[in-house]
Amino acid sequence: MGIGSGNELNYPLLQLMLLIIHLIYTTIRPIAKINGFISMYVCLCKGITDSQVQQAIDNGADYKALREQLGIASDCGQCGNICKEMVKASQECAFYEAQVA
Ligand code: FES
Repeated sequence: MGIGSGNELNYPLLQLMLLIIHLIYTTIRPIAKINGFISMYVCLCKGITDSQVQQAIDNGADYKALREQLGIASDCGQCGNICKEMVKASQECAFYEAQVA
């Protein structure tokens, strides 16, 4: 099959979509505080949403546990960095909340 036949995965487009998801997650979502209101697909291969990932993180999952429990980054791997950032952001929030308390 030739390029552009429509039957192959378009990885540049997939990367662009994941970048947009990342930008939305790191900019708009914290500002709007819409946690739980809107779900976005973090892992397109497995159909896993950010709400599912965040719920697992809130229940104590780290990146390794996300991989084991949800199958994050087990196919193309493009969702790995976003999930690592979600874990890191949650850890930083917990750190700062502990500092304030
Ligand atoms: S987006 Fe491909 S494994 Fe998650």
